[in-house]
Amino acid sequence: MTDLPRILISRRLPEKVEALADQHFRVRYHHSDTPLTPEQLIGKAANMEGLLVTLGDQLDAGVINKLPETVRIIATFSVGTDHIDVAAARRRDILVTNTPGVLVDATADLTWFLILAATRRAREGLALLVEEEPWTGWAPTQLMGRDLKDKRLGVVGLGQIGAAVARRARAFGMEVHYTGRRRKPAGIENGAVFHPDLESLLAVSHVLSLHCPLTPQTRQILNDRTLALLPEGAFVINTARGELIDDNALIAALESGHVAGAGLDVFAGEPALDERYLDFDNVFPLPHLGSATLETRQQMGVTALKNLKAYFDGRQPPNRVMP
Ligand code: DGY
Repeated sequence: MTDLPRILISRRLPEKVEALADQHFRVRYHHSDTPLTPEQLIGKAANMEGLLVTLGDQLDAGVINKLPETVRIIATFSVGTDHIDVAAARRRDILVTNTPGVLVDATADLTWFLILAATRRAREGLALLVEEEPWTGWAPTQLMGRDLKDKRLGVVGLGQIGAAVARRARAFGMEVHYTGRRRKPAGIENGAVFHPDLESLLAVSHVLSLHCPLTPQTRQILNDRTLALLPEGAFVINTARGELIDDNALIAALESGHVAGAGLDVFAGEPALDERYLDFDNVFPLPHLGSATLETRQQMGVTALKNLKAYFDGRQPPNRVMP
């Protein structure tokens, strides 16, 4: 027991994952759904060899530089790594790993939940039943949404999640367009139309869905200028990172009607969010639930533990993140 690698797990994880962690590691738990403050995280990392962290744990250069010398690896329970300064970790010779692949379907499903909720006015429909009384019954012009068939879905970032969203789009009869850093091979593209720049994608997107990582280049890619390029009455869906959108710009576009509705699972500065979104009945907001299924969260945990185990067994972790 004493020979097992010592790791800190910074948040409560699904039971099965904690049980697996206990088999392979000597674990110090922060058994809570609330993140540790940076000071608490540094304190709890004392004498640890590995950290299993997640979204909400802020591992910027300042924190990384104060981690004890014993820490050799940071395994994040997430695919996104924007909460970790990977370059700062590398400078300290600390490895960073993430959990790609395992949350693709759950996130693509939730993206589709939001596409349907936004285009079929689900929030207004629910309000008609639960908030206003009495519902006067079916009516020919009541809460008319928009068809998806024969419309164009614009995917920003045809990575694994973007491609899974695109696959589902075909079942709805949508034409898929995408942009990204480079054109994908035909097998991944699967008939989707490549746009070399965001601007030309926006111009054709009836529904625009964001699936790119948050980087200095993608921060606020949706802003006053770019949103104006969408066709009048387009829908905006975001299950990636809130910071990809300039909230003032999207709120102005919703107010003017240029954007007809939005489905937002992520917000800039989570858990804070721009509360003006909550006043729009054509915005369907969710609290970052993209990967929130039991199966997926278990797989994320297993993947993070596999990365840690590989490292401590002297192997290359399968999901190393490079700066
Ligand atoms: C991730 O893993 O980065 C996702 O945002 C979690 O849902």
